[in-house]
Amino acid sequence: MTHSGIIAAVVLAVCIVGNLCTATLQLRQVVVVHRHGARTPVPSVNQSSLCPGGANGCGLLTTAGKQMLTNLGRYLRARYNATIQPYDYYNSDMVHSQSTDVDRTIQSADCLLRGLYEHLDGTVQRVYPVVHTREIDRETELLPWDGWPALVMWSAATSVPFFTMTSKVTLDIISAEDLKLIGDEIGLSEECDPASPAYFPFQCAIDAEDFYSCAMTTGKTAALPITGKFYGLLVQCLESYNLYAMGKFDQLTNGGNFTRAVGTFGFPLAVDIIQRMKQSLPSGNPVPTMSPVLSHYSGHDITLIPLYNTLGNTTLLNPLFGAAMIFEVWAKDGATSSNSFFVTAKIGQPGQTPDTNFSYTFSNFTMSCMTNKRVVYQSSSGCPLGDFENYVLNRGPQSAMGTCYTSEATRAILNCTFSDPPTAPSYCNYYRSMCIDACGQGGAMTPQYECVQPGSSSASASSGPMLRKVNGVKHHNRRWPNLKR
Ligand SMILES: *[C@@H]1O[C@H](CO)[C@@H](O)[C@H](O)[C@H]1NC(C)=O
Ligand SMILES: *[C@@H]1O[C@H](CO)[C@@H](O)[C@H](O)[C@H]1NC(C)=O
Ligand SMILES: *[C@@H]1O[C@H](CO)[C@@H](O)[C@H](O)[C@H]1NC(C)=O
Ligand SMILES: *[C@@H]1O[C@H](CO)[C@@H](O)[C@H](O)[C@H]1NC(C)=O
Ligand SMILES: *[C@@H]1O[C@H](CO)[C@@H](O)[C@H](O)[C@H]1NC(C)=O
Ligand SMILES: *[C@@H]1O[C@H](CO)[C@@H](O)[C@H](O)[C@H]1NC(C)=O
Ligand SMILES: *[C@@H]1O[C@H](CO)[C@@H](O)[C@H](O)[C@H]1NC(C)=O
Repeated sequence: MTHSGIIAAVVLAVCIVGNLCTATLQLRQVVVVHRHGARTPVPSVNQSSLCPGGANGCGLLTTAGKQMLTNLGRYLRARYNATIQPYDYYNSDMVHSQSTDVDRTIQSADCLLRGLYEHLDGTVQRVYPVVHTREIDRETELLPWDGWPALVMWSAATSVPFFTMTSKVTLDIISAEDLKLIGDEIGLSEECDPASPAYFPFQCAIDAEDFYSCAMTTGKTAALPITGKFYGLLVQCLESYNLYAMGKFDQLTNGGNFTRAVGTFGFPLAVDIIQRMKQSLPSGNPVPTMSPVLSHYSGHDITLIPLYNTLGNTTLLNPLFGAAMIFEVWAKDGATSSNSFFVTAKIGQPGQTPDTNFSYTFSNFTMSCMTNKRVVYQSSSGCPLGDFENYVLNRGPQSAMGTCYTSEATRAILNCTFSDPPTAPSYCNYYRSMCIDACGQGGAMTPQYECVQPGSSSASASSGPMLRKVNGVKHHNRRWPNLKR
């Protein structure tokens, strides 16, 4: 691949929506991925005092949060009303909504649809949202830390060194004395006070960051002057946590072997997005009429960070409440091959304080793209769909086990070697219930999740479904990161 080839590709990409070219391009599809709107805090201690109305009031979408996502729907309406046809009624085949199975994300998806179809309010065509979800344990696209057996197992096996490391990193950023003052101010002393048996500097810092971020959206930061003074440092603590969780911990302790084996954590979502985009490709003639023209995914900060990473942006700033990424798919007239289609992307977020009216601003996302000759280039104005796909496909797992990958060492720590019994409830029982290859190459599994040699009398069940039914296993003790924020 020569230099001129790269430059030609970039010029072509720039041309996509430049004035000279727009005439021949048509917007085919819009894909939106967003974090839920502002919510009440989700502290790990003292919930009954710190969440409005008691512990049941943690993590709920607030009025501000509803306004944010409604504004995102309005933003989409103002730009894409011509694309989203029919526009005088809601057709859930044309506008596809998918959310994690969490109340605040489902409600955020509702709000987006309400904003999008606000002109139908009060008419018989008013929107009754259709929002698809799946079990959190199988949410491989939107919640890798819950939906990937590989990550559940790895984070369970490494939680002690991981938390030790992140607490040390926290204390390099902010002093124990300052964390104690912050904890006293908020009501997090249990984890912020070095004298407390449950002292946990890392969790203290991210809970405090969260508490203040929530207070910003309700205009109530005046009661938190000390936390406000250190807010910038608390945000740094959260970003360093993202850095370690997304790969640095693996690099430092394991030579990067885990992340290489499983691929980038946003890979399944990126692949799903590309599949949706390809639905706007004409497969034969004419163009399929019922493919969604708008798809949206309602998730969390830990949905967006892995996605950015897979798409080549390794910035670990934490996405704010309501943060969104918008992809547009453009087609040349008469387009038939995937390189007659172009993808652009932008990212943005709503203002986080009431005086901003929570309105959105977006800027171009610099996309990474790869030619068929495997030359990577960056473009802030989009690239051919084929080049976008080439880049993403290069970000997947190296292990054939993919999201079910575990190392020998991880299985040993979690008592899940070949001869270990699948005692329930346990991580091993969970793992074998999720992953058909959990007994390793050449191993087979019985219906009771025991590993056996193939051909032995009880080895009949290894041809079951790829993902088996989980039998109510609870494994949610202190994995990292243990919060969907
Ligand atoms: C529809 O889109 C056009 C152009 O993008 C915009 O000017 C108009 O305000 C939009 N209509 C609504 C109801 O948002
Ligand atoms: C819990 O929060 C309340 C309200 O901020 C505070 O008064 C109380 O001291 C906190 N409890 C602990 C154990 O930190
Ligand atoms: C990483 O994997 C390589 C190749 O499989 C292996 O040789 C090496 O020991 C592993 N490193 C660690 C730290 O486990
Ligand atoms: C917010 O909305 C109010 C009332 O509509 C308006 O006066 C104000 O200018 C808006 N502020 C911003 C930052 O858009
Ligand atoms: C990378 O993503 C961050 C948000 O996480 C954003 O602020 C930054 O502008 C992005 N960089 C590029 C080059 O798009
Ligand atoms: C942003 O992307 C659009 C296409 O989506 C393009 O027209 C515009 O030139 C880009 N702006 C910058 C500053 O790159
Ligand atoms: C593994 O088994 C050992 C010995 O029975 C036990 O002490 C340990 O807690 C088990 N580990 C896990 C993660 O279950």
